[in-house]
Amino acid sequence: MKRIVLAGATGYLGQFVLKELLHRAYPVRALVRDAGKIRAADYRGLDVCEVEITDRQSLSGCCAASDVVISTVGITRQKDGLSYMDVDYQANVNLLEEARTAGVEKFIYVSALNADKLTHLSICRAKELFVDKLRTSGLGFCVIRPNGFFSDMAEFFSMAQRGRVYLFGKGQFRSNPIHGADLAVVCVDAIESSDREVEVGGPETLTHEEIAHMAFAALEKTPRITCISDWLRKLILRSVQAFTTQSFHGPIEFFLTVTAMDMVAPEYGRRTLQEFYSELSEQI
Ligand SMILES: NC(=O)c1ccc[n+]([C@@H]2O[C@H](COP(=O)([O-])OP(=O)(O)OC[C@H]3O[C@@H](n4cnc5c(N)ncnc54)[C@H](OP(=O)(O)O)[C@@H]3O)[C@@H](O)[C@H]2O)c1
Repeated sequence: MKRIVLAGATGYLGQFVLKELLHRAYPVRALVRDAGKIRAADYRGLDVCEVEITDRQSLSGCCAASDVVISTVGITRQKDGLSYMDVDYQANVNLLEEARTAGVEKFIYVSALNADKLTHLSICRAKELFVDKLRTSGLGFCVIRPNGFFSDMAEFFSMAQRGRVYLFGKGQFRSNPIHGADLAVVCVDAIESSDREVEVGGPETLTHEEIAHMAFAALEKTPRITCISDWLRKLILRSVQAFTTQSFHGPIEFFLTVTAMDMVAPEYGRRTLQEFYSELSEQI
């Protein structure tokens, strides 16, 4: 059985990857920066190792006696004052170097759908610079390029809860977001597969307008949708890029770009957005 090092286990996707690995009985070492965020007692056989992945020295020995590294590490909502280059690029480079030193066979990295085509965005540039490093590292590798996660689709639900959903264009852009549990299966399958790049999205391709209607339906509310014209989106985008720091505008520029284009990947999985929104409405 391959021995796995997982970095990012405290995040949305990482938690599902951890569960999937343990479900398939892989021996796992989870690299975390705060062991308090992971209740090792809940996971039988889990080895938790506290490290600072942004600090190369602290990783020393963390990949010893391991076969495969999986990294879901990246900045999403963290407000640590670090840049995408510090984390999405350099922290993953640190881990890659440690993996190489330890003689690991394969490195599985989670990038994002279309990141290779959107390298003018700071988040995508950092991720793809890491992918370039990975490709030339000499290690076996797999780059997973997933569509948006259901965790991000909760934003449509929150807007619907507040009474109005704002969409770009006419709400016609299409996407197939994916649940973390479905994506975790793809990440863990990559351990044995020979695929080097995997694009993946959820089982249903929907327009943003359909997603908004789904959120209102789960809340049993009358849909109220406002469409924002493209010139206004571009104005906001240019303003935040010009007048705010990269750590502030990075997530905004990514959001303002991918919500104004079709983001469709090969469909996979079985968990639907409707079920996800129903679960959210039950938690209210
Ligand atoms: N969310 C989406 O819709 C989406 C779509 C496509 C691709 N992706 C990519 O998929 C990956 C996982 O996303 P996610 O939604 O699971 O993100 P998440 O919930 O924010 O998890 C990110 C993980 O990275 C770790 N991390 C972040 N900054 C760190 C730092 N400075 N030092 C150490 N660890 C750090 C986090 O640790 P802590 O828990 O300690 O903060 C966490 O374990 C990311 O690279 C993301 O860009 C996301």
